[in-house]
Amino acid sequence: TPTVLETIAATRELVRSARAAGKRIALVPTMGALHDGHLALVARGRELADVVIVSIFVNPLQFGPSEDFERYPRTLDADLAALAGSADAVFAPTVAEMYPGGASQTTVHAGPVAERYEGASRPGHFDGMLTVVSKLLNIAQPDVALFGQKDAQQAFLVKQMVADLNLPVRIEAVPIVRELDGLALSSRNRYLSESERVLALTLSAALRAAREASDRGESVAAARAAGLARFDQQPDVRLDYLVIVDPATFLPLEDDATGDGLILVAARVGATRLIDNAPLHF
Ligand code: PAJ
Repeated sequence: TPTVLETIAATRELVRSARAAGKRIALVPTMGALHDGHLALVARGRELADVVIVSIFVNPLQFGPSEDFERYPRTLDADLAALAGSADAVFAPTVAEMYPGGASQTTVHAGPVAERYEGASRPGHFDGMLTVVSKLLNIAQPDVALFGQKDAQQAFLVKQMVADLNLPVRIEAVPIVRELDGLALSSRNRYLSESERVLALTLSAALRAAREASDRGESVAAARAAGLARFDQQPDVRLDYLVIVDPATFLPLEDDATGDGLILVAARVGATRLIDNAPLHF
């Protein structure tokens, strides 16, 4: 099983000796409740580096007051078992270790893209996320950090921060890992009842419908309509947004645009908020 590091000082010490030995370091930031999506990031980190550090920290700064911070699954023992043989170390700090004296006085402010999509529904979320990611990058000083394409807007904003602030790290996005029936793996899937689990397939089905439309040569507007139609058939799934963006800018594509697109969807099934996305081409 991986070495468990509870303090920033112990993590810095491990990083210092790994660096002194000329080793390359990969960081995989997570909030735990690990599943095969997280493990794909760890496996990719292994390919790119000699030492793989996984951080497990449910970051209070990125949860809104009415969100699931308190009930977010915390499964450290199972997480450590899942990482046996793949991660070298797990950085699992307490909230007090990361935020001594309460919340950080200094925070990262994400740019205007963070006001859209996830950010519109979760005010402050991306500032809190980028703040903790900055801290984790400064603590582990990795050569490469791995993020999932599952949270496409998050990966975009992390890359943007690293470019804007000249952080000396390479960010790599790893493709979405899905269940056989299409559901994107998520720590929040465990909140779903059996019937909600079926309804949750509406998201991936909508992405597939849009993808089929774009593959047939249909327009951005037609692909969006094809995706939206899946939600019209499923009133128990409450759509938050469904949008096709330019993956280079994350701004919405015009109805008749050509080139690469990325369809983003968020919806609520019961009390659980789910997101998914897929690449398209027009
Ligand atoms: P968490 O939701 O635990 O996700 C950790 C990483 O795993 C993220 O980069 C996420 O995109 C990736 N991931 C989750 N499900 C995936 C899937 N099905 N396929 C591929 N990758 C997947 O995202 C966070 O934590 C936090 O915001 C964090 C970056 C750790 C900052 O607190």
